[in-house]
Amino acid sequence: MALQKFQHFMLKEIYEQPEVIRHSLNDPNKAFQVLPTLDQVEEIQILACGTSFHAGLVGQFLLEQVAGIPTRVRSASEFLAAPFPRTRNTLLMVVSQSGETADVLAAMQAVKQSSGGAFKILAITNNSQSSIATEADCEISVAAGVETSVAATKTFTAQLALFYGLAFFYARQGQHLSHEQLKGWNAQLDALPAQVEKVLQQEATIAAIAASLKDTKTLILLGTGINYPLALEGALKLKETTYTHAEGYAAGEFLHGPIALLDQTIPAIAICPSQPSRSASAERILKVAQKISSNGSDVILLGGSDAAIVLPPCEELLSPFLNIVPLQLLAYHLAIARTIDVDRPRNITKFLKSS
Ligand code: G6P
Repeated sequence: MALQKFQHFMLKEIYEQPEVIRHSLNDPNKAFQVLPTLDQVEEIQILACGTSFHAGLVGQFLLEQVAGIPTRVRSASEFLAAPFPRTRNTLLMVVSQSGETADVLAAMQAVKQSSGGAFKILAITNNSQSSIATEADCEISVAAGVETSVAATKTFTAQLALFYGLAFFYARQGQHLSHEQLKGWNAQLDALPAQVEKVLQQEATIAAIAASLKDTKTLILLGTGINYPLALEGALKLKETTYTHAEGYAAGEFLHGPIALLDQTIPAIAICPSQPSRSASAERILKVAQKISSNGSDVILLGGSDAAIVLPPCEELLSPFLNIVPLQLLAYHLAIARTIDVDRPRNITKFLKSS
């Protein structure tokens, strides 16, 4: 893989995301026909680790809120200690960009053994030849292309795109969305690549924010609803590539104890949906942001009209595609400001064989 004009693979892969979305939405090989029909699915379970786990949380939101299917997510690394109770007519989705993460493979094998084939297991990977893809009952590739940087970026976006596809697929079957509504969502999905390109144009602003955070040791990220997993993923990216103690919280929950952590050395990044303006989520985030700044801590608003990083208007349901980009760029530029080897950060590898 060549770096082309980019200095690092992480930056190149962040910039590939508009194309990844375009390709994911129009990929004729995304054969949802391999899936059981809605009348055979009483519950969906999702197993994954790390970034793929966060994509799974977005998937859970979509499958429940858009398609109305009860969905549970568990970190695969906790699954053997705490397996899901037995359920009927369950579709298990095993998500792993590499398809080789040992914790995910072990959890999947445990389900296979204990369910006696009663579960349908779908692998969602970026490698159709991987162990997870070949051992599952069926596989849908996210087809993001090779990801060289250790920190996952474009594969997260490709996993998101797949979960939107799955949620709309089942929503259509369950008649949760009318033909007209689906047409509307499809038009907005088609607009996403161009919107992500606009977010990428803000790289210089984000690099300046990263420079201002060079000596920051702890960062708080806040999100709500579909953007709560984005706060978790942004924090993971910052931990992995910048070694910052970054924690993601659901904005409302942050007030129930963790707010005691804050002092003037700890800034918060608040992910604020930019449309519809003053949505319930935006109100919730802004209220928490106000409380934090009145306590004397800095708040960096991502999205919203007074934002440090202004994002193109976008329906909240689709906003994760836009919100993830500044968080990835922030992690990248903070790593560069700290002269960290951003493509190969310490202690983590792409294919974790055991935990
Ligand atoms: C490792 C990496 C994470 C990654 C996780 C899951 O722990 O450090 O960055 O998200 O594995 O990887 P997978 O290939 O299963 O998505």
